[in-house]
Amino acid sequence: KLYSEPYRPQFHFSPKANWMNDPNGLVFHNGTYHMFFQHNPTGIGFGPMHWGHATSQDLVHWEEQPLALFPDPLGHIFSGSAVVDINNTSGLAPAGLTAIIAIYTSHNPEFAAQNRTDVERQSIAFSVDNGKTFVKYEKNPVLPNPGIRDFRDPKVFWYALQEKWVMALAAQDRIHFYSSKNLLQWEKESEFGGPSIGAHGGVWECPDLFLIEQKDISKWVLLVSINPGGPNGGSATQYFTGAFDGKTFTADSKDINWVDYGTDNYAGVTWSNVGDRHLFLGWMSNWNYGQSVPTEPWRGAMTVPRDLSLKVANENAYLVSQPIPELNSLIEAELVSLNETTVKGELKLVDTKRENSTGLLMVNFELAEVAEWSFVLENDLGEQVVVGYEASSRQLYVDRSSSGKLDFEIQFADKMKAPRISQDGSMDVTLLIDVASIEMFADGGLTCMTAIFFPHKPLNLLSVRSGGVGSLVLGSVRVWSLNSTV
Ligand code: FRU
Repeated sequence: KLYSEPYRPQFHFSPKANWMNDPNGLVFHNGTYHMFFQHNPTGIGFGPMHWGHATSQDLVHWEEQPLALFPDPLGHIFSGSAVVDINNTSGLAPAGLTAIIAIYTSHNPEFAAQNRTDVERQSIAFSVDNGKTFVKYEKNPVLPNPGIRDFRDPKVFWYALQEKWVMALAAQDRIHFYSSKNLLQWEKESEFGGPSIGAHGGVWECPDLFLIEQKDISKWVLLVSINPGGPNGGSATQYFTGAFDGKTFTADSKDINWVDYGTDNYAGVTWSNVGDRHLFLGWMSNWNYGQSVPTEPWRGAMTVPRDLSLKVANENAYLVSQPIPELNSLIEAELVSLNETTVKGELKLVDTKRENSTGLLMVNFELAEVAEWSFVLENDLGEQVVVGYEASSRQLYVDRSSSGKLDFEIQFADKMKAPRISQDGSMDVTLLIDVASIEMFADGGLTCMTAIFFPHKPLNLLSVRSGGVGSLVLGSVRVWSLNSTV
């Protein structure tokens, strides 16, 4: 049955069938959240890219819609963004209608085969029926290629102070910024990046730039995905905090920061037209093995949507990610509720088979005093995923080296690590566990890790272990079972 196949995500979006990678064109309009995505509707591997489409009223339940954008003589439809052209700056909407405008990369596979550099150009398409159908602009591309082979993934936003659109675009090892009054003609403003700043294990992709304004702190944040070169191998998303004056982005420091240290959160960007909210979604996979994961008839899923905000820690501004509160609507039952619990060795928390639960879990726990801990998710075959904290190295980790099917890709059987950023004496962690994925948010989301896994039988047992010889005192532990959304 569709959506009950082995490894089918139950509260994460995945397409009915075939290949999916990056989220694209995330936009809210007329009460509906739109999620477009890189999609090959002709096969389970990467291929001629289209924009797939899904919609939601609550960011939790998604409904897949007909394909939105199809390849054309300019090429395949690569990643990009969407905006609501509220003032009809483009003039593309007939009187009385409002257009959603998609800004995407036209990737010409024939030019690529000929080793030409002008493979990627930026194009637009508009919809005046609430995203149901799109019409391509007749004078595409709107931004020609300046002689740079990797030149893609336009993310556009309205810069109200100067009443203009701004585009962040990935150009090899840097981001180019362009501006436009009408989305049709673009002028280059500046460049950010190059070898002296940020991580450069691979090409820069899928940028996003937005201002986070809080009572305590305000910063512009630039997201930049890179592939490869992530902290645990393959693809990952770094970010910079800094200033933007409508022309130039200036980073606060040359430090390298990661949105998520896990291997399975890539090409994430934020929703357009959602007010002060910074709602983020990533592709829950990795170019190292995304095309060989053992799922069918689909390949690829999204992370849960996350709220991004800023937090000052160790006198620096960091980006924090938290699962959106809307997910709480999925809570089915509270399976565990413990306070002031001392763990010596192991404490069994949940057997979802016995509790007749679907095995979809949300876990939250707190330590008044930071100590070594691990949460073990396993089955009776001894397959397991372990999430934990190693006190000596101050590192959080997700170990999937014994998680079941591993042989589809040599680098999959790993123990991924992340430095604990917070120096606080206490610690809180939220875990979101789906059939084939875990998302960890530590210290209010200062350190995040996302990982996928493929056990031979569902991982139905959850326990917590103390580290080393000491005992572990948990201030509180809550485990909730969640309902499926599919
Ligand atoms: C990122 C990416 C983008 C590109 C798209 C193609 O994962 O490589 O740079 O537009 O995927 O599907």
